[in-house]
Amino acid sequence: MSKDSEGKGADQSSAPGNVPGSNAMWGGRFSRGPAEIMERINASIGFDQKLHAQDIAGSRAHAAMLVASGIITPADGAQIDAGLEAISAEIAAGSFAFRVDREDIHLNVEARLAELIGPAAGRLHTARSRNDQVATDFRLWVRDAMDRLEAKLQVLQAALIDQAERHAATVMPGFTHLQAAQPVTFGHHMLAYVEMTGRDRSRLADARRRLNECPLGAAALAGTSFPIDRAMTAAALGFDRPTANSLDSVSDRDFALDYLATAAILAQHLSRLAEEIVIWSSAQFRFVRLSDAFTTGSSIMPQKRNPDAAELTRAKTGRVTGALVALLMVMKGLPLAYSKDMQEDKEQVFDAAESIELAVDAMAGMIADLSVDEGRMAAAAGAGFATATDLADWLVRRLNLPFREAHHVTGRVVKLAEDRGIGLEALSLADLRGIHPGIEADALEVLGVAHSVASRLSHGGTAPARVREAAGLARKRFLLS
Ligand code: ARG
Repeated sequence: MSKDSEGKGADQSSAPGNVPGSNAMWGGRFSRGPAEIMERINASIGFDQKLHAQDIAGSRAHAAMLVASGIITPADGAQIDAGLEAISAEIAAGSFAFRVDREDIHLNVEARLAELIGPAAGRLHTARSRNDQVATDFRLWVRDAMDRLEAKLQVLQAALIDQAERHAATVMPGFTHLQAAQPVTFGHHMLAYVEMTGRDRSRLADARRRLNECPLGAAALAGTSFPIDRAMTAAALGFDRPTANSLDSVSDRDFALDYLATAAILAQHLSRLAEEIVIWSSAQFRFVRLSDAFTTGSSIMPQKRNPDAAELTRAKTGRVTGALVALLMVMKGLPLAYSKDMQEDKEQVFDAAESIELAVDAMAGMIADLSVDEGRMAAAAGAGFATATDLADWLVRRLNLPFREAHHVTGRVVKLAEDRGIGLEALSLADLRGIHPGIEADALEVLGVAHSVASRLSHGGTAPARVREAAGLARKRFLLS
């Protein structure tokens, strides 16, 4: 798209009677145009052209309201509406010239409207300001971003739930401190991420509900003397209601911060799963295999299958969190109401939205295509004396030992196995009895990983029966089908 500012001075953006080069929209009292450097620091068209659809929708709603409220004539309203529609078509066709000398998306659209329909264009800005205009446009954009993210999160959750059902009984080591702790099932592990992304969706819905009030009509900061109908524009743009306070309306960017905070927490979750995929797919673990579609090779080491998509998903967390911190810093200490600082809100949000959407898509693709090496996982699940707690629990249940004593006895059993370099399940009954004479044959059974996971039937536990049930419930809670 063109962002040239040639023709500045001689151009149509100077209003009749204005000094050549001064801004047609606000240049009436200026005796010269802006310095080139001023134009560069001031202009936002390079990035806020992304708001074109929202800007035009907002203007059409505003013009219709001005007509309905008797503030402009139906004839002017009709011309404005047709002109805005024509601009929409020009932008869609790629023939609209975005101009730096016209500063931002609002002035670009309005100046083009003047070219297309003449003086009636000048009536569109009655009872509004760019301050409430940009607040409205940006809310509409962020709302769309929230809706896109919500849809993508459902796709990710569906992939996680599918894997959970497929692997409800597939045992793997559960870790704490990245040390084998107790066996769990892979399905259970997948469902942990369903809960996390479920909270992300809940945060998103919450943020959307708060966002969905319309600032249009707050005008520059104080409201307007025209008899506008704010409920009408709010409804036309799909907002629940108009915002309550005009000062807050033009100075609030909480909706963008809410979105970025939600995206940052989500990115955090994705980074954890991405990290696990990196670990699990390593040659040392080989728990999972990423599909060819989500790995890359090395130009020098033919054996390599690199989990680049997972690594990049992990890395996107930095960008998204950076955007949140950047906007928090921009907004910090700004006096009411609008300050130009707030123009720095958009690029952060645009970049974060692109990054988080890509990360969710990549994760959904990786999870859907992931294949699990059940044998490797089962072997690892039994390693590291992972069923020691099961023996301690048996001692409590069957011999009525206090848990602390059972823990101690089990510790000696672990030590014995460790000294011999074997697993717990390879110990004989005589070995166990040598440590505690009360131990009986069925204690050996609890040392198997399948038995271990199957016994964890408590609510939210890892037993395959529970995981199947939880996956079914997750489908109902989070997905339509
Ligand atoms: N481009 C501006 C922004 O993004 C629009 C609002 C300008 N308002 C003003 N009073 N200069 O924030």
